[in-house]
Amino acid sequence: MLNFEFKNPTKILFGKGEIAKISNEIPKDAKILMIYGGGSIKSNGVYDQVKEALKDYNLHEFGGVPANPEYEVLVNALNFIKENNINYLLAVGGGSVIDGVKFLSAAANYDGEPWEILKKPVRTFEGEGMPFGTILTLPATGSEMNSGYVISRRETNEKLSSGGPGLFPQFSVLDPEVIRSIPKNQIANGIADAYTHVLEQYMTAPSSADLQERIAESILISLQNTASKVMSNDFDYDAAGNFMWCCTMALNGLIQKGVITDWAVHAIGHELTAYYGIDHARTLAVIAPSHYRYNFDAKKGKLAQYAERVWGITEGSTEEKAEQAIVKLEEFFHSLEIQTKLSDYTPDFAGTAERVQQAFTERNWLGLGEHKNLTPQDAFKIVEMSY
Ligand code: NZQ
Ligand code: ZN
Repeated sequence: MLNFEFKNPTKILFGKGEIAKISNEIPKDAKILMIYGGGSIKSNGVYDQVKEALKDYNLHEFGGVPANPEYEVLVNALNFIKENNINYLLAVGGGSVIDGVKFLSAAANYDGEPWEILKKPVRTFEGEGMPFGTILTLPATGSEMNSGYVISRRETNEKLSSGGPGLFPQFSVLDPEVIRSIPKNQIANGIADAYTHVLEQYMTAPSSADLQERIAESILISLQNTASKVMSNDFDYDAAGNFMWCCTMALNGLIQKGVITDWAVHAIGHELTAYYGIDHARTLAVIAPSHYRYNFDAKKGKLAQYAERVWGITEGSTEEKAEQAIVKLEEFFHSLEIQTKLSDYTPDFAGTAERVQQAFTERNWLGLGEHKNLTPQDAFKIVEMSY
């Protein structure tokens, strides 16, 4: 097992009705900016719950953060924060709103051009960001309990990430009731995103970190078991709760400790969202199978372990089990009505592989993956295989 440090300071308030308790977490004299997305919180009752919980506070609002949070919109929020001396941020939404708030937390105390924080990128250390909490309305990203974020800039077709230990939420509310109003395609996205987060930290080479590997496998199995329940039209509180907690546990830092991690699927996937606006989770379903086929020799030991322990496939050689693992993964995405080829999402896919190769080369991303040896030329081939 590799050496590691582990600190996750985010307090979780899990369960029905927990939104009512947020006033226990926010200083009474805080000047709060509540930030939300396109309006789902107004139709599902979450907005009213937050307003009620914070009725004794100095509370301002900024709505309209779009999916794949847009830099230009966030700059408007940043100006509002500075003009109104806001000193506490509250994200009420999915990963996009929470990521937007993390960027604002970092940018509020940053002296240079805000885009530098993503372009360079600039990490935010403890004590540097503006304090913030979150109320999660869409289980998927794990952003509610990690310190990373991803921001899009349509003007330049870029989607870049940044983060740092100063950007953990102080608290996050996980009320499974919010899942009632989520459209099925977004629930499917959440399952696929969390599932792929586990794979990025697991599908590398067999390791001696037995506990991390088994926790990772448990999250995968639990997501598989809850998928059909949360995709069904009948709301099941316990299934919703398991799904929500799986998504958080998939990317709160725990399973990546002591092991090597990949993240090439996300790096390539973010390009597909930047070029074509494809939902984040669906880009992962497009890239992951090709990535695992292209890097088959390096990953076959872990693919076979995944086949055995997660899917119960015990027959065949390591190679045969590893091949079946990739087929099982594709079938799982398809069971969520998520397609796994780029051509399923855009007719204009010709040239995408060249574009990704060029973008990675220009950014000097010359060695991705768990061994830092996946070149822009390799990314070209993986994207080409996903057409
Ligand atoms: O904007 P509103 O009206 O709220 O609607 C949203 C949005 O249209 C809707 N929604 C959210 N909660 C709902 C709901 N609709 C009904 N009922 C509810 N309870 O869902 C739509 C999608 O929301 P969004 O926040 O964009 O989805 P998600 O949570 O999947 O976040 C995706 C973003 O997170 C980034 C992605 O790249 C993408 O930009 N990621 C962040 C990560 C992190 N910070 O750790 C890791 C991930 O790998 C990912 O890259
Ligand atoms: Zn993701």
